[in-house]
Amino acid sequence: MMKVIVFAVTFTVATATFKPHHHHHFIPPGPGDSRSPCPALNALANHGYLPRNGLDWNATEVVQTLKDVYNVDPSLGSGLALAAVFLTGNTSTQSFSLGEYSGKEAVSGGIGLSHHNRIEHDASLSRADAFTGDNHSFNATMYCNLKRIAAKLNGGAFNTDVLSLHRFNQYQASKVNPDFTFGPIQWFLGYGEAALSLNVFGKNNTATAAAFDSFFAKERIPDDFIKNSIALTPKILFLSALEVYNKNPVPIQGIDTLPQKLDGSECFILKLIQGTFPDAAQDLINYIANNTGRDLPANCTVV
Ligand code: HEM
Ligand SMILES: *[C@@H]1O[C@H](CO)[C@@H](O)[C@H](O)[C@H]1NC(C)=O
Ligand SMILES: *[C@@H]1O[C@H](CO)[C@@H](O)[C@H](O)[C@H]1NC(C)=O
Ligand SMILES: *[C@@H]1O[C@H](CO)[C@@H](O)[C@H](O)[C@H]1NC(C)=O
Ligand SMILES: *[C@@H]1O[C@H](CO)[C@@H](O)[C@H](O)[C@H]1NC(C)=O
Ligand SMILES: *[C@@H]1O[C@H](CO)[C@@H](O)[C@H](O)[C@H]1NC(C)=O
Ligand SMILES: *[C@@H]1O[C@H](CO)[C@@H](O)[C@H](O)[C@H]1NC(C)=O
Ligand SMILES: *[C@@H]1O[C@H](CO)[C@@H](O)[C@H](O)[C@H]1NC(C)=O
Repeated sequence: MMKVIVFAVTFTVATATFKPHHHHHFIPPGPGDSRSPCPALNALANHGYLPRNGLDWNATEVVQTLKDVYNVDPSLGSGLALAAVFLTGNTSTQSFSLGEYSGKEAVSGGIGLSHHNRIEHDASLSRADAFTGDNHSFNATMYCNLKRIAAKLNGGAFNTDVLSLHRFNQYQASKVNPDFTFGPIQWFLGYGEAALSLNVFGKNNTATAAAFDSFFAKERIPDDFIKNSIALTPKILFLSALEVYNKNPVPIQGIDTLPQKLDGSECFILKLIQGTFPDAAQDLINYIANNTGRDLPANCTVV
């Protein structure tokens, strides 16, 4: 009952004060525009918050835009943007591109975010595996499965129960692929993305059907969207991701168990990345240390 009242109040405030995307109208991608498997970045491109062609996005500007539009805390935004730069982008220009590039296309933003098993991974919420074919476009069948679970468990709205069961099902469907990959890095990404969706397009781990339909299916920021007043930090994201995971845990390749309690989410994330991409992780650690003045504790451990 309390929850209903909270939502009703929020909605009234939102409709009274929100001007939908002044100067940032939604325009679907046209020929020559590159898009990624990330609905949130695609939406930023579709609204022109970042270059609509999806190419050569400047990491500094991405971090600022994630803060301005979605209220993603820069401590989280810079981790994501730098991972994109170091794993799929161009370290000399500190930029990355949506899409997939193999040769000498006219971009300098690296190999692209769709590149399989860098950030793009198997068992996504709404994208097929690279093994199946299209690893980056919205897949309506998968999204309908997610909506069916929401209808059954939570009256059509999305929460950690709903995302958890869908993640579990997607894992079961994907594990038959001969090249199925779901190690610590994919754990972090897969569950982190579920948590991002709930905490950017919803709040407190709950999102409405209308918000998710707009975000996932149209890659359009909902007209009545109002960013959360509390910035989304790595810690909030982690607790949410763990909640999604712990409700329906799945095996993680290469490690026995996941910690139930985390000591220093930054260390944990970097250790995950380091296990999979040793070189990129070391650059990333150096970069963070150089640019924030913070040294990561050498002994950072997961308890
Ligand atoms: C610089 C920041 C970001 C980068 C580089 C990034 C990159 C990516 C990539 C490469 C994927 C594809 C993973 C896969 O194979 O499923 C992805 C998925 C996703 N991202 Fe992002 N992302 C960023 C920020 C965000 C933010 C702020 C949100 C907030 C809602 C978000 C929400 C999602 C969701 C929900 C998915 C899962 C899509 C699915 O599984 O169908 N991302 N992201
Ligand atoms: C990236 O954007 C920042 C902030 O606007 C700017 O200072 C920097 O020069 C840009 N980097 C490149 C390589 O364009
Ligand atoms: C990175 O950008 C520089 C400068 O534009 C360019 O010369 C180089 O080819 C780019 N590298 C990649 C991997 O895209
Ligand atoms: C992922 O999708 C991109 C874009 O369509 C495609 O170029 C690439 O080959 C796909 N990756 C794999 C491993 O199939
Ligand atoms: C979309 O997902 C369904 C269900 O997993 C799958 O059967 C279908 O091949 C996918 N479509 C594409 C184009 O990959
Ligand atoms: C967040 O959700 C939890 C669990 O549904 C609930 O107990 C709590 O009161 C909510 N907090 C806020 C601030 O709405
Ligand atoms: C970090 O700073 C050190 C010392 O100034 C420098 O050698 C190194 O290239 C920097 N690394 C990155 C990734 O910025
Ligand atoms: C890591 O080092 C710091 C400072 O040197 C110390 O306070 C902390 O207890 C150490 N943590 C562990 C888990 O050993």
